[in-house]
Amino acid sequence: MNVFASPLGDLYLGSAQDGLHDVIQSLAPSNVIVIADNNTASKCLPLLENLIDISGGKVVISPGDQHKTIDSCEVIWSALVAAGADRSSLVLNVGGGMICDLGGFAASCYQRGIRFGHIPTSLLAMADAAIGGKTGVNYEGFKNYIGRFEVPAFIWIDPVFLRTLPHRDLLDGLAEVVKHAVVGSRGLWDTLTLHSDTTSIDWLKIIELNTPVKQEITTADPLEKGIRKALNFGHTIGHALESHFLHTSQPLSHGQAVTYGMMAETKLSRITGRMGNEDFHAIIGLIERLLSPSEVTLPSFKDLQPWLLGDKKKSKGVTRYSLPDQIGSCSWDIIVEDRLVAESLDWLSTQVRG
Ligand SMILES: NC(=O)c1ccc[n+]([C@@H]2O[C@H](COP(=O)([O-])OP(=O)(O)OC[C@H]3O[C@@H](n4cnc5c(N)ncnc54)[C@H](O)[C@@H]3O)[C@@H](O)[C@H]2O)c1
Repeated sequence: MNVFASPLGDLYLGSAQDGLHDVIQSLAPSNVIVIADNNTASKCLPLLENLIDISGGKVVISPGDQHKTIDSCEVIWSALVAAGADRSSLVLNVGGGMICDLGGFAASCYQRGIRFGHIPTSLLAMADAAIGGKTGVNYEGFKNYIGRFEVPAFIWIDPVFLRTLPHRDLLDGLAEVVKHAVVGSRGLWDTLTLHSDTTSIDWLKIIELNTPVKQEITTADPLEKGIRKALNFGHTIGHALESHFLHTSQPLSHGQAVTYGMMAETKLSRITGRMGNEDFHAIIGLIERLLSPSEVTLPSFKDLQPWLLGDKKKSKGVTRYSLPDQIGSCSWDIIVEDRLVAESLDWLSTQVRG
């Protein structure tokens, strides 16, 4: 078991059998309440039941980001009241990014904040959502509009859970790993480029290399005033696409949206002259190889613009982008002319058109 200590929550990487019980005991909780969704309750919780005394019961939420809402928080808060949860209780979020964000936010508001631990079960949560202290819910169609920065009591990553994760969800997580490589780690990038698809990937190794990237950037800038904005690479256009498709019959997963977002924003880097041709082709090539972006009909820039303007990263009414300069480094707060954003979306459309 590997420990990555951080002011934003100590992270343990390895089999939960090798110490999860002791970590929970060391917190001496008055009771433990587990938050899961239907899938993680049936596929992941059974692997933990001999390690956790779920004395306060479990709350099972329907899966999917459409349930990352204030309504689901109310379900959790009611269960916490019914369980007699107090300031010494511990909420354990056993699930993907949806459950970590939701359970973390609900715990951080209950009685002005009670402790919570993350046991991420999807690659996306292991690589990204569970690290860095962001919690929150979606609101009125906008992603993560209501939320808090709150440090978890611990994060325990056990890659065993990936065995039951559907392939599409695995790719969603891998999108965030690719993002971390592009914005901050040549070492992670070099390891990813050794693979032509996901079948041969050693997930423990990838998570080992990925964890310091997310931890170091978020620790350096916990409130996202500077360098943490680099992690928004792919997310300005990605979130806009995710919001746009949320209102159609074919919603995109977060990872799919970020995959398209990274492609479009890499193109933006290229056409604004920030990035050279070699790195541009290397990034697009790796994304196409490992993330298999599916064919889709994309909205025009005009249709996407309201969502781009609704993005949380806009400041004084202007959308700002985080754009990589080369593999392993990224700049942020970049303002780009609309016509160039439209050009990058047109290029993306031709890349992924069905
Ligand atoms: N807080 C942050 O910093 C941060 C960062 C990135 C993303 N996020 C959020 O994370 C969410 C996306 O996370 P996600 O992709 O994990 O989505 P998710 O939690 O909805 O999980 C995806 C699907 O996988 C299932 N699942 C999870 N683990 C499983 C397992 N081991 N076996 C079988 N099924 C399993 C879930 O039930 C769900 O159906 C979004 O809400 C996004 O906004 C947060």
